[in-house]
Amino acid sequence: MASFERLKEGYQQQFARSEAQTLQEIFGRTDLTPFWIADMDFEVAPAISTALNQLVERGIYAYELANQEEYQAIANWNQQRHHFALDTKAFIQVPSVLTGIAILIRELTQVNDGVLIQTPVYHQFVQVIQKANRKVISNPLQIVAGKYEMDFVDLERKLQREQVKIILLCNPHNPIGRVWKKEELEKLVALANQYKAIIVSDEIHGDIIHQGHQFNSIISLQQDQHLALLGSPAKTFGMQSISNGYIYIPQEERKKKINHTVEAMYLNHGNALTAYATIAAFNHGGPWLDELLTYLAGNIAWIQQFLAQEMPLVKMFAPEGTYQIWLDFSALGLSPEALDQLLVAQAKLALSPGTWFDQNCVLFRRMNIASPLSKIQKAFHQLQSAYQQSS
Ligand SMILES: Cc1ncc(COP(=O)(O)O)c(C=O)c1O
Repeated sequence: MASFERLKEGYQQQFARSEAQTLQEIFGRTDLTPFWIADMDFEVAPAISTALNQLVERGIYAYELANQEEYQAIANWNQQRHHFALDTKAFIQVPSVLTGIAILIRELTQVNDGVLIQTPVYHQFVQVIQKANRKVISNPLQIVAGKYEMDFVDLERKLQREQVKIILLCNPHNPIGRVWKKEELEKLVALANQYKAIIVSDEIHGDIIHQGHQFNSIISLQQDQHLALLGSPAKTFGMQSISNGYIYIPQEERKKKINHTVEAMYLNHGNALTAYATIAAFNHGGPWLDELLTYLAGNIAWIQQFLAQEMPLVKMFAPEGTYQIWLDFSALGLSPEALDQLLVAQAKLALSPGTWFDQNCVLFRRMNIASPLSKIQKAFHQLQSAYQQSS
């Protein structure tokens, strides 16, 4: 049994320095409990540590250039876990998922073309599009009966008018936690095909799927003109600082073109630590991930109950996938400044501002819940007493 309840001894101290720096930069103070970045407080699956330890013991870090074993491990994993087949020849390895997206935007579109995103969405999408001098076209998600949905009418309008060459899909969707259903993806694909836009599907959160939901990769729809950033172990196994990104491109000609650029820039080198950890994770990490998902479900259930009983004005969008929750504080009736004061200065919590994901979401926050339940409980009690004192 993995222990998700205890933090590794020394963890807080070891990370204190870099954490203090980022807290200072983002929130202007360091005395906050961090829940803002999408990584985990937990130790990785034992198989990953074993593989890394063996490599360190070996003490030789000569070139190791074969990555076929990584692709095979990812293909087997997706077959077993999500029941769709992958061709190991369709993968291209890049240093990170965002690197992959940046390359695809540059290779598949021209300067000033539109790249469509569905806001609120992972804030680096806007950055990566703008840094490539492409236009960000926003197709806002809409809340229907308390749940986020795609707005297909607005999507079609944008596809007709805005020179959209890429739809940058986030599935599961960070920060609102939707796992897009097959029917929703089919509708999206139909519109993309009609208006000749390529779907680039960021599936980095694809293994963090909560009970009652089913992950559907864009690749499982067998629509070869679309492609995915699929198979990164970063979120699944808590390997954010030692993981690659994997672009999966079904179309052979397009794969050749992208691969040429990746090779021309020598971006496919990889490193042995990442490769060994990735293979170990996908080959042996299943039981650990199952335990993690059970633990996260407990965290979500506790938060849901706490909010319902103690702070019913704070609305949580319960995630179908990801280990983020999306919180709507608007019913508290506070100004944006007063909400900041409550959360940061009084409750001492570092949550991601909603405006990172959509400039209109001033009264929303994203909270990472891949933490021991005791840490989460403490945070919500801090929030409750800060609110009681201020009202
Ligand atoms: C949707 C999404 N894509 C990409 C990333 C970053 O991936 P990488 O670090 O591999 O570039 C994140 C990290 O939070 C994310 O949420």
